[in-house]
Amino acid sequence: MEKLQKLKDFCSFLNMLNVQSIRADFPILNREIYPGVPLVFLDSAASTQRPSVVLEAMDDYYRQHHANVHRGIHRLSEEATELYEGARERIADFVNATGSCQIIYTRNATEGFNLVAYSWGRTNIEEGDEILLTEMEHHANLIPWQMLAKEKGAVLRYVPFLEDGTLDLSTLPKLLTEKTKLFSFTAVSNVFGTVNPVRQLVDAAHAVGALAMVDAAQAVPHMPVDVQAWDCDFMAFSGHKMCGPTGIGVLFGKRELLDAMPPFMGGGDMILRVDFEGATWNELPWKFEAGTPSIAEAIGLGTAVDYLNDLGMDEVHAYEQFLTGYALESLSEVPGLRLYGPASAGQKGAVTSFTVAGIHPHDVADILDKQGIAVRAGHHCAMPLHHRCGISATTRASFYLHTTTEEIDKLVAGLHHARQVFRL
Ligand code: ALA
Repeated sequence: MEKLQKLKDFCSFLNMLNVQSIRADFPILNREIYPGVPLVFLDSAASTQRPSVVLEAMDDYYRQHHANVHRGIHRLSEEATELYEGARERIADFVNATGSCQIIYTRNATEGFNLVAYSWGRTNIEEGDEILLTEMEHHANLIPWQMLAKEKGAVLRYVPFLEDGTLDLSTLPKLLTEKTKLFSFTAVSNVFGTVNPVRQLVDAAHAVGALAMVDAAQAVPHMPVDVQAWDCDFMAFSGHKMCGPTGIGVLFGKRELLDAMPPFMGGGDMILRVDFEGATWNELPWKFEAGTPSIAEAIGLGTAVDYLNDLGMDEVHAYEQFLTGYALESLSEVPGLRLYGPASAGQKGAVTSFTVAGIHPHDVADILDKQGIAVRAGHHCAMPLHHRCGISATTRASFYLHTTTEEIDKLVAGLHHARQVFRL
C-alpha cells in the first residue's frame, strides 16, 4: 500500500506537470458516453484518439490545399505534394531512417506485412525455406506468412513464450538455422505488453543470414524507436495507434532491399514510363505507392509525429511506465484477477490483459462500459497466443499519454463492481 501511495504521489506530480494539458488537446475526452458518465478511454492499443492539431491539419489541408499529388504543375498540387512529402520526411526522422525513400506509406501495419510477403517473399522464398515468427504475434504478422508459406511450400516456425509472457530465447539457436530466410517478430506484444529485445533478435537473425522484420505497431507510438540502432531490415507500424488518422501506416525498409523488390500493386504513380508492352518502375518510395494515396491521412500522421515530438518520446515512455506500474499494483488488489504477461512495468508496454475468475471477459468489458470505461475484450487479433494460454479471451486495458491514475482507479473500482454484480 505504501508503494502504491508513492506511485500515486509521483503520478499526480507528473499529472500536474503535463497530463491535464495533454487531455485538453483531445476533444473526445470531454465526451459523456452515457448521460452523466464521462468517457474513460482505456483502449489505445486498439486505436488511439486524435489531438485537435491532427484534426485541424487534415481539415486545413482539405479546405486550403487539396489537389492530387505528384501530378499537377499548378500551385495547389505543388502545395499538396509538399505537405505529403514533408510529412514523410518528418516520419523518417521520427524513427531515424537514413532517408525518406525508406518510408513507404501503406494503409496500416497489416499492409506493410502483406507488402513484404508479396513483394520480397514471392521473389525470395522457396520450397523448404523457413520463416521464423513468435507465438505472441498478432494476426497481421501471422496470416501473410501463412499464405506465403502455403503457396511456396515454406515452413513456419515459432519462438515459444514462457509463463511470464517473455520469449523463450533459449530456443533461438535451434530455431534459427541456415534454412531461415526471415525472422519477423513484434517489438511489443499487443496482449502481454512484453517488450522484446529487438536488437538481440535482429542480430540473431543476421547471424544465420536471415532478414529481420519488426512489428512496431505497439512500439513506435510509445517509445523512442531508432531503426538504425535496431538494424532491422523491415519494420511496419500504423498511424491510428499513434494519434494519427486511420488509413495510413508505414513500412520502413533498408534501401538496397526495397530497391531490389518488385512493386506490390500496379497503377499510377508507381511507374516512370508505360507503353502497351510494359512499364518501368518509379524510384523509391513511390514504386510501392500505386494510385492516388491517402494524402490527408499522411499529412495527419506527420502532424501526429510533430505532436509526439513536442511532448518528447522519452517523456511519453517514462510516463507510461509509471502508469503501467501503477496499474499493475492497483489491479493486483482485485480478487480473482489473473494478469497475462510480465508483472513488472520495466518489461512491459502500456498494456494490461487479464481475466477475472467467474466472469467472462466480454461481461467484464460490458459492465465497465456501463461505467464509461472503454476496454477491449476478446482475442485482440492474437488467437494463437490465447490458445497457447489455454483461454479464448482476455479483457485488455491499455494506456496512453492522456491516461490518468484516476482513470486506472475507476477501472479497478469498475472491476470490484463487476464482481459484485456476479455476486463473487
Ligand atoms: N492489433 C490491434 C489490437 O491490439 C487490433 O487491438
